Amino acid sequence: VVILLVTPRVEKALEWRELLAARLPGVELRVWPEVGDAAQVEIALAWKAPPGVLASLPSLRLICSLGMGVDHLLDDATVPRDVPIARLVDPNMVAQMSEYVLYAVLHFHRRFDVYDRFQREQRWEELPLPDTAKRRVGILGLGTIGTECARRLLALGFDVAGWSRSSRTVAGVETFAGPGGLDAFLGRCDILVSVLPLTSATAGIVNEAALARLPEGASFVNVARGGLVVEADLLAALDSGRLAGAMLDVTQAEPLPVQHPLWRHPRVRITPHIAGLTNPPTAVGPIVENLLRLRDGLPLLHLVERARGY
Ligand code: GLV
Repeated sequence: VVILLVTPRVEKALEWRELLAARLPGVELRVWPEVGDAAQVEIALAWKAPPGVLASLPSLRLICSLGMGVDHLLDDATVPRDVPIARLVDPNMVAQMSEYVLYAVLHFHRRFDVYDRFQREQRWEELPLPDTAKRRVGILGLGTIGTECARRLLALGFDVAGWSRSSRTVAGVETFAGPGGLDAFLGRCDILVSVLPLTSATAGIVNEAALARLPEGASFVNVARGGLVVEADLLAALDSGRLAGAMLDVTQAEPLPVQHPLWRHPRVRITPHIAGLTNPPTAVGPIVENLLRLRDGLPLLHLVERARGY
């Protein structure tokens, strides 16, 4: 079997090759752009493959995403439509994402956003102590990541709700589903956390109308994709004071352009898409498991349903 690693970051591909070689003896691992005989390649492990590369592999049987999101594959019209795509689900990355979310929620919950400003003003002033059990946190997206975030926030004592495309049950979490459930969900989010996949149904879901549904003075955290947010609407909500603050790990354009107003907005915190970095030493396990399943003719895990977009 020949596997092709395709990522613009060649040093990452070399790390992957070493980790995979140790676990898959007898498998040939090639690193793009050294494709060799394209007809021999049966499996591609890809992150942001340049358009056309995956289409040039006529014997391809499986594409494994090297990131948890698969929008990089589904947005590329040249990716063959009949080849199954497997998402990457790495519990270690899910834990990283959850840590970021906990930090961000605590930041707004304990008013560190305001205390940061107080410090800049050398102002020694106490704000009312918030009641954790009354702080309503809402998770937009209740998949693997959202569910883990909800679980950890519950453990800290927050009042947690979640919204998902189709209805889900998570112990201790008030759940809402579908377009019909969105407004009621947003209306009870003092802190809104987005962990949704970017699909045609979720693009721009955090827009003026959605932001207007949030309680006055709510905060927003996005660790998913910038395309979920209409940034002009977000800036307007921050400027009007409706939205107290935002912590954004993702933006529409990445890297965020130097001149972008989000960089300098006093109530926005930006991090450079680091909430959950693909970590080959831990991500290799779930990927190898799927490759062995393919070899043994067993059902594959985390397959993308193209119609739903993730
Ligand atoms: C990162 O954004 C990923 O999808 O893994």
